[in-house]
Amino acid sequence: MTMYDIIYKKREGGELTKEEIDFFIEGYTRGDIPDYQASAFLMAVYFRGLTKKETFMLTDAMRYSGDNIDLSSISGIKVDKHSTGGVGDKTTLIVGPLAASCGVPIAKMSGRGLGFTGGTIDKLESISGYRTSVESQEFIDTVNSVGISVIGQTAHIAPADKKLYALRDVTATVDNMGLISGSIMSKKLASGSDAIVLDVKCGSGAFMKDFDSALKLADYMVEIGHSAGKKTAAFITDMAQPLGSAVGNALEVKEAINVLKGEGPEDITELSLQLSAYMVFLGEKAKTYEEAYQMVETNLKNLKGLEKFSQFVKAHGGNENIIYDFNLFPTAKIKVNVLANQEGYVETIHADDIGRAALALGAGRHKKEDKIDLSAGILLQKKMGDKVTVGDVIAEIHGNEDEKVKEAKAIIEKAYKVSKNKQIKQKLIKALIAYKNEKIY
Ligand code: URA
Repeated sequence: MTMYDIIYKKREGGELTKEEIDFFIEGYTRGDIPDYQASAFLMAVYFRGLTKKETFMLTDAMRYSGDNIDLSSISGIKVDKHSTGGVGDKTTLIVGPLAASCGVPIAKMSGRGLGFTGGTIDKLESISGYRTSVESQEFIDTVNSVGISVIGQTAHIAPADKKLYALRDVTATVDNMGLISGSIMSKKLASGSDAIVLDVKCGSGAFMKDFDSALKLADYMVEIGHSAGKKTAAFITDMAQPLGSAVGNALEVKEAINVLKGEGPEDITELSLQLSAYMVFLGEKAKTYEEAYQMVETNLKNLKGLEKFSQFVKAHGGNENIIYDFNLFPTAKIKVNVLANQEGYVETIHADDIGRAALALGAGRHKKEDKIDLSAGILLQKKMGDKVTVGDVIAEIHGNEDEKVKEAKAIIEKAYKVSKNKQIKQKLIKALIAYKNEKIY
């Protein structure tokens, strides 16, 4: 078997065997297959696609390319949550503590942001002292004592995906159904939780731009989870506009804390309640989803979720006083308002453009090695459907360099589209593939 034959077969639209997929993944992880052949293979997959069977085999090969975490010393059903990535998505910081406050053990490994989408680990690093890298025993001990730990993914989890994702990112082969499903699910399965709640984003700020492709991606991932013996469910949620108001690391952590105080924006509060309720349901702390929803809603109101947030920040060496003193977060030197220049209703806020504006401010990275500005970002003051008059503040820019702020301002001005007509608010939660696989729209 040669890599040439495998590339050729896929280029011609053939279905690969387990031996061929294993040959590629093992060879590429070891460094025996060069990037130029892996790139050609990825592009062939991009155009020809992967069948469901191939996607399952790819996921398995990547999952077993490294360590599989053993969480058996944590009692109870461990539940993980994963978002396919979006702009302003800070739900992990809310749903983790909320579900943990209802007794669900959360042992979560998260990623960093790349491109215009953010990552939980960067956000957590805006809390002074928070250690995102800990030994596996400390990770397990923290879940056992506090109920939740969130750390960065180690290099030993699905190393094949780590290498391949970096290559996909520079060869325009990220947004492919089979490759995304395999990439996400290989890491989720290797991370050892018993159940997984997926948040598949759909819209301009997501990899999946339309509902049908998001639904297909969700279907693939739920089936992969089930076939690996994990209870898996997927929400399909809107990413036509950023989630909540804050985009940028410290700003997003502050907003997550506000949600846990019951003072956050409505959209992210509702999505967080639904996601965490499903985690509580899959974690068997409630008999029905409705009962689980009541539990998380109660723990939002009585601040048990906030208390859990503070406990897990402290357990990771972070300053837990940040929940009451936002001055402890890194703060940007420059604040500039973006004003409406037209009267009407906000028709669109292109989430990807807002992500790019945050990137221009230094809140994200173009390359893995880039250092990010944790204080930089954007606060959206107007969301889709809101009424605006000329001169209203539509967004607030937080930055540290005049040139970058200027660039971000120009991008944000273009990202907003105001129309004369009253807008019908889009549904935030578009569908749920429940874990027994019935679809609810
Ligand atoms: N997130 C991942 O981890 N992998 C992908 O392929 C896309 C989003």
